[in-house]
Amino acid sequence: MGPRIIGWGKAVPARGLTNADMERMVETSNNWIVERTGIRKRYWAGPNESASVIGAEAARMAIKRAGISPTDIDLIILTTMTPDKTSPATASIIQRKIGAKRAATFDLWAACPGFVYGLATAYNFIRTGAFRTILVIGSEILSRIIDQKDRRVCVLFGDGAGAVVVQASAEAKDDPSNFVLGCDSDHADVLFVRGPFDVAEEAGPPGEYFTVMQGPEVFKQAVRVMSKAGQELLGKMNWKLSDVDVVIPHQANKRILDATGKALGVPPEKVYCNIDRYGNTSSATIPIAICDAVDEGRLKPGDNVLLLAFGAGLTYAAMALRWDPPPAPSSA
Ligand code: ACO
Repeated sequence: MGPRIIGWGKAVPARGLTNADMERMVETSNNWIVERTGIRKRYWAGPNESASVIGAEAARMAIKRAGISPTDIDLIILTTMTPDKTSPATASIIQRKIGAKRAATFDLWAACPGFVYGLATAYNFIRTGAFRTILVIGSEILSRIIDQKDRRVCVLFGDGAGAVVVQASAEAKDDPSNFVLGCDSDHADVLFVRGPFDVAEEAGPPGEYFTVMQGPEVFKQAVRVMSKAGQELLGKMNWKLSDVDVVIPHQANKRILDATGKALGVPPEKVYCNIDRYGNTSSATIPIAICDAVDEGRLKPGDNVLLLAFGAGLTYAAMALRWDPPPAPSSA
């Protein structure tokens, strides 16, 4: 028995903002945003939307595609930087919303690579036989941790959620060496969000926890750590670059994706990008990209997929999967 993905889903808030909307909010231009980032649209939550609201919506879609009942789920892992509450874990709030009454729950905090950290955790719980069916969700409401008046940051980020169901299967073609997780904390200062519980000197002003980012330095480090993690994983798994059918990287900036593909030696047509439609949704970018890549026929049964991510910390992750879901149930 090994782990395999049997369901996937995504959700975004109702309100979409184009670059023209950004032009009305800060001194910027559609040309600047598209040329520097590739982003054309992002979604920002309204007052009634939160990580649990859109996370639950993505989860319901993934459960439907998996053809299982919410009560089949043994564990919910939620990755987020914007939990509904400091306590309880937002995974617990989602458990109630979707009726997954039997599931253990926890939130996993690893910034943008959080979803890949969560997926690797799920795969290993299944390998040990501890759990049979695990829901992994990445859900982020980044619009609440950005200064909407700071043009250097606000144009980049959006809100969104993506989810997958992983289940133990006799048909899974599993390789337990399929992930690399790491952190280079010497570069933690290039990207952070202050929080309320830090030592006084480091804590943010009450109620104002905004993303602080050295954009060009983040860019440089992102390309370095993602290509390094990718190379390390290919070596570990004994894969050649030609064995990879699709690379799904964390969608932070189109130019970062292009530069990472080039550093790895992967042709651009194998690097999936949908940042134009959502902006950077942190740990939700990869599960949302999985959904879109499947819908667009870019991710097909039998494909070898390489996931790559980096984020604050400076955390990074790479994971290789064989995309081999069971046929869709008649209800999906
Ligand atoms: N509109 C217009 N001008 C802008 C904007 C904007 N939205 N933002 C910055 N500028 C200006 C700057 O003020 C600067 O002007 P100046 O030269 O007069 O000082 C000029 O544009 C160039 O600024 P740079 O920061 O040097 O521009 P750069 O080409 O590096 O692009 C960017 C900036 C897009 C932020 C890029 O550095 C980047 O993408 N970095 C990585 C960001 C990232 O991925 N962050 C998230 C990572 S982790 C996670 O995903 C949560």
